[in-house]
Amino acid sequence: MLFDLHRHLEGTLRVATTRELAARDGHPLASAHDLDDLLVARGPLGGLVPFLAKVDAAPAAFSRPGDWQRAARECVADAAAEGLDYLEIRFSPWFIRQETGLAPEAVIDAVADGVRAASAETGVRTALIGILLRDLGPERGLEQVATLLSRRADFHAVDLAGNEGGVPAADFAPAFARARDAGLRVTVHAGEGAGPESVWAAVRHLGAERIGHGVRSVEDPALLDHLAARGITLEVALTSNLHTSVAPSYAAHPIRRLLAAGVPVALATDDPRASATTLPAEYEAARTRVGLTDAELTRIAETARAAAFAWP
Ligand code: HPA
Ligand code: ZN
Repeated sequence: MLFDLHRHLEGTLRVATTRELAARDGHPLASAHDLDDLLVARGPLGGLVPFLAKVDAAPAAFSRPGDWQRAARECVADAAAEGLDYLEIRFSPWFIRQETGLAPEAVIDAVADGVRAASAETGVRTALIGILLRDLGPERGLEQVATLLSRRADFHAVDLAGNEGGVPAADFAPAFARARDAGLRVTVHAGEGAGPESVWAAVRHLGAERIGHGVRSVEDPALLDHLAARGITLEVALTSNLHTSVAPSYAAHPIRRLLAAGVPVALATDDPRASATTLPAEYEAARTRVGLTDAELTRIAETARAAAFAWP
């Protein structure tokens, strides 16, 4: 069974669809000299921010609500082609508004429609996670949650993403308290663009049940013990970590040390288009390049199933 718990809708937008919609609208992306290079990482980029620039360059071309319904359908269709059984799709309605001018509520409705239809067609079970964008600042946190809660039934969980170097997670505590009060589950990007203190803050101040990436937790043995004891699952995306230069290579990725410390680890894709990867490719890299055993990969797959927010 294949479970991907960490996939950004913005990071799945196909290059071909981006090109087609940009041409329709006369958007500057249509005349980009090398659209592939703008949207896809081919190797280490030296940091999280240049990687996010590739993830975040595509949404501007999706200028109508119907484009987001199509994006959602294509995302689920691609997941079905990979052989996924279950997919959690996360996106930031406020980021999409910033890029397109669309009302975030209209984007949520379109994405939820598209995902529902494609999920029914393909049999891939899906759940949506609403992202609060760090970059907009904590003063926008409550407003972003209010938007998600205006479509409460569409979401299973809330996440914090964007430039981790920017704003401390603790500043979003009121927003996450509101989300938890409404019954949303919590995952937080941390320990990717910043160190263990960021993971501690996500767990202590935001109530994170899972951590996006979290790989820099290896720098703090007390944190590893805490994650293992509490069963807090790290959503590890190997290729994304190479592209953001959080890990120097597959072979030197900290995943082995995380597993050895007893921390629950799930493999995920993060941004399949921006990283030119799939979930099966991530498992294959874990096996052949990291050198994990079949037993370790089975344990990882079981961890992903156990940590899913909406698996029965
Ligand atoms: N980190 C933070 N924000 C993101 C990422 C990531 O890896 N991918 C897409 N948005
Ligand atoms: Zn991510």
